[in-house]
Amino acid sequence: MIQTLEWTDSGVRFIDQTKLPTEETYVTCRTCEQVADVIRNMVVRGAPAIGVAAAMGIALGAKNAKGETVGDLKREFDRCCELIGKTRPTAVNLFWAIRRMQDKFESLRIRPLPQIKQALIEEAQRMHAEDIAANQAMGRFGATLMPASGGVLTHCNAGALATCGYGTALGVIRAAVEQGKKIHVYADETRPFLQGSRLTAWELMKDGIPTTVISDNMAGAMMKQGKIGAVVVGADRIAANGDVANKIGTYTVAVLAKEHKIPFYVAAPFSTIDLDTPDGSQIPIEQRNAKEVTHIAGKQMVPEGVQVENPAFDVTPAQYVTAIITERGIARAPYGEALAKMAGQTAAVGG
Ligand code: MRU
Repeated sequence: MIQTLEWTDSGVRFIDQTKLPTEETYVTCRTCEQVADVIRNMVVRGAPAIGVAAAMGIALGAKNAKGETVGDLKREFDRCCELIGKTRPTAVNLFWAIRRMQDKFESLRIRPLPQIKQALIEEAQRMHAEDIAANQAMGRFGATLMPASGGVLTHCNAGALATCGYGTALGVIRAAVEQGKKIHVYADETRPFLQGSRLTAWELMKDGIPTTVISDNMAGAMMKQGKIGAVVVGADRIAANGDVANKIGTYTVAVLAKEHKIPFYVAAPFSTIDLDTPDGSQIPIEQRNAKEVTHIAGKQMVPEGVQVENPAFDVTPAQYVTAIITERGIARAPYGEALAKMAGQTAAVGG
């Protein structure tokens, strides 16, 4: 399995996703500042991976803390949480992970310092293992929704590289293929950062899953030609009403899918569901550097000085979503009720 990120004795090790698919290199972060940088610079990306990276960065900060009292450790811990909380605003998994580490710290306050540090490291490692188990559970649920054969379109990368392993949307595809379904993946290129052509295609080819890369503007034509039997994507944040924030361009795909009567599925762990955000209009959308749009591989593609927009995500209204696949089961509209009910259940992971 691809090791997207892992805790090691020398720090947190990441596969450098900015270098894929042509170079498979790894970077090891030794401080929480370095982890904040790799999240911001998209060496690690994808909502669940960002969440676990955040937890590991905070654990690293605690491990490195110099003070001798719990108060000293708490100050350093808070500083790391704040720093990491400012890296990327849309994926709620980042804030979910920070909150979980904060809760862990609170539960440990009366323990000796070395025990607190060790428990924070173990909590981050537990989140890593839980993420893989959640993806495998999502895969089992979601595979039942995949066609027995034919094309499945995905947008961005919601695979092993976007998680701690196996993937959400690609986990569903992997599980369907493991069950013997003859799926051919259509991977949207996903401009401007090319997560589809660089990352999704790379990891599916490693697994021997038939894959065709298309540029984003080809999706409608492929649907019209009958090549796509289902769409499955990941999510960065799902609001309480089922509105889905995901990579820019997802909304376009969802509208096209509805027009062509193709089911549009979203696969995401419960750490991506934000019941505190009532609907998609409240989800903060990250605006990234214009250079991601103006330049390709360092070459300028637009006239000097032209205005550019670069929102990293869009929101797909719940009405376009056929079902949301989670590790606790499959939610269908009305999502407000379905997600609230699932929130009260325990995960079906490992079952
Ligand atoms: O900007 P990115 O690459 O972090 O965006 C990633 C996505 O939009 C993914 O589809 C989403 O995080 C789900 S990953 C399982």
